[in-house]
Amino acid sequence: MSSSLVSLLVVGLAAMANAQRDLTVDLGVAGNFAILAAAGVSSVPDCSVTGDIGVSPAALSYITGFSTSFGSSTAVAQSPYVNGAIYAADMSNPTPAYLTAAVSNMETAYVQANGFVNPDEIELNDGDLSGLTLAPGLYKWSSNVILPTDLVFNGTAEDTWVLQVAGTVRMASDTKITLTSGANATNIVWAVADAVTFGDRSHFEGIVLAATGVTLQTEASMFGRILAQTEVALQKATVVAPFDPEPEVVTKRSVVRWL
Ligand SMILES: *[C@@H]1O[C@H](CO)[C@@H](O)[C@H](O)[C@H]1NC(C)=O
Ligand SMILES: *[C@@H]1O[C@H](CO)[C@@H](O)[C@H](O)[C@H]1NC(C)=O
Repeated sequence: MSSSLVSLLVVGLAAMANAQRDLTVDLGVAGNFAILAAAGVSSVPDCSVTGDIGVSPAALSYITGFSTSFGSSTAVAQSPYVNGAIYAADMSNPTPAYLTAAVSNMETAYVQANGFVNPDEIELNDGDLSGLTLAPGLYKWSSNVILPTDLVFNGTAEDTWVLQVAGTVRMASDTKITLTSGANATNIVWAVADAVTFGDRSHFEGIVLAATGVTLQTEASMFGRILAQTEVALQKATVVAPFDPEPEVVTKRSVVRWL
């Protein structure tokens, strides 16, 4: 066999290995939430959230702009802006334990996502993702990442992406993320060490694991989940979580549903 044929074969095998690489991140019960934040969630009305919101160790008073109220149970609140339940650490049992587990799972998920090694791309375009189409795989930047134009994730429903960013992530106004060839937003995980900002009217798709805070500026929208270790700020924004037909539970009684 010629050496060029051998190297072709090696390259081919490496490409196959990449395509089959499983970068699934286990969100645990944090994956039950549209928005989970340690320190608070603020809204400049009107915001719209489809899915549950949780804050812990913060109290319900750190969920602002949602006009929250209690119904028959003080273990869960509701909001006219939220199609889902609202949980905070100072609510009745079993909510505090449920949230403690969720926040712990969120932190573990961030560590797991950041722990994948051997990136397929390191410092791609120095963090400027203008006009790119990202194939499945592991991407790593030690810098800030900017999305000045639309970004495409291209891969099948089974493919996985992890984007490790040591700096900030900023999406410019009026840009969008699109998924092609069946790519699933739940399989695209961003692990971001510094602030995440989605500009006015931008549209994001994927899971954000943020070591600090996430801001959706005026009329930004996203399909996915925001799991933030400080605060989430929404400005007339829309967040839609993927529907999970079988949410994970900590104990039988731990998931309290608004009825
Ligand atoms: C998208 O991915 C498919 C395989 O899933 C590949 O055949 C196709 O070439 C990719 N398209 C682009 C624009 O990268
Ligand atoms: C995306 O993945 C989730 C989790 O595995 C699954 O429940 C959902 O059906 C998938 N969506 C599509 C459109 O394949």
